[in-house]
Amino acid sequence: MADATTTPPVDQTVLAEALAGLSQACKTLPPKLFYDEEGCRLFRRITELSEYYLTRTERGLLETAAPSVAAAMLPGALLVEYGASDEDKAEFLLRERHASGIAVFAAYMPIDVATEGLEQARARLNRSYPNLRVHTMTADFLRPVALPPTFAGMPRLGFFPGSTIGNLEPSDARRFLAQVRDTLGDSALFLVGVDLRKDPAVLIPAYNDAAGVTAAFNRNMLVRLNREAGADFDVDAFSHNAIWNETKGRMEMHLVSQRDQVARIAGKSIRFTRNETIHTENSYKYTLKDFAALASLAGWRACHVWTDARCLFSVHLLASD
Ligand code: TRP
Repeated sequence: MADATTTPPVDQTVLAEALAGLSQACKTLPPKLFYDEEGCRLFRRITELSEYYLTRTERGLLETAAPSVAAAMLPGALLVEYGASDEDKAEFLLRERHASGIAVFAAYMPIDVATEGLEQARARLNRSYPNLRVHTMTADFLRPVALPPTFAGMPRLGFFPGSTIGNLEPSDARRFLAQVRDTLGDSALFLVGVDLRKDPAVLIPAYNDAAGVTAAFNRNMLVRLNREAGADFDVDAFSHNAIWNETKGRMEMHLVSQRDQVARIAGKSIRFTRNETIHTENSYKYTLKDFAALASLAGWRACHVWTDARCLFSVHLLASD
C-alpha cells in the first residue's frame, strides 16, 4: 500500500510535453502546464493585483457589453466558453434576461483543462441558475470540439475572454478563430477579449508584479514537474523574467537559470548554463485594427468593439453570418 513517503506516479502526458519542450535548443515549457490547482490559485491572485490591469478592465467592458450582446441573441441560446477557469466572466452574460423576463442563455458549455475548477463552477451555477443546462468539457480548447447533439439548433455565442488569444502565436490564433467559426457554424456570434499594445512601462509590471505573485506562478511550473513528472529542479535556482519584445509585439515570460546546473527528469539530464532561459509563455498585444484583420482572415465579421477610456483592453463582438 502507498504511504506518504511514496513518490507519486509519473504523469506520462505531462512528462512527454515537458521533455519535448526542454529538449529544444531554446528550451520551452507548454503554458497549459501552468494551470494545476496551485497554478489556478496563483493566477486568480494575479488577476487581483493592482499592476494586472487586464482583468478589472475587461470586467468593466463586459458589464457594458453584456446587454447589447444579449439583445443580439435569440432566446434559448448556448454560451460556449473557451479556456474557462471559472464562470466569473460568463456570469455577465448568463444573468442577462430578455424584456419578457426569460433568460437569454439556456445552456452553458465551459471548456478547460482544469477539471476541478469546472466541477466547482458547475456546482455553483446549478445553485444560482437552476434552469441553466451546464455541460462541462475537460479538454484543451485548441483541439476541435463537437457541440453535443442536444444543443443542435440553439443560437450560439462563443466566448473567449482574458486575452488568452494573445497567448497563441498569431498563426495559431488565426487557425483557432477559424476552428471556432467551424464549430459554431453560421449565424453565430463570438465575443473575444483582447489586450492592446501599449507603453511597456505599463505592460512589464503587469507581468512582473512587486509582490512576486507572477514569479511564483511561473516557478510553479517547475514545482509541478518535480511532483508530477519525477523531476528534481532546484526551483529557487530559477528566477522569473518578463520582457517586452517590440518587434514581435509580445510580452515574454522566462525562467532564468541562476547558475550552470543540471536537472534530471525521468532519467534524462537537462543541462542549463548560467542565464539560459526556459521560455514559458508569450502574451501578444494587438492593435484594434490588427485584431479585426486577423478575425476577418478567419472568416469572422467585426460587429462591434468596446474599449476603455485609456485604451488598455478591448472586447470584440464577431459574427459568422
Ligand atoms: N492570459 C494571461 C495573459 O497573457 C496569462 C498570464 C497572465 C500569464 N500573467 C501571466 C502567463 C504570467 C504567464 C505568466 O495576460
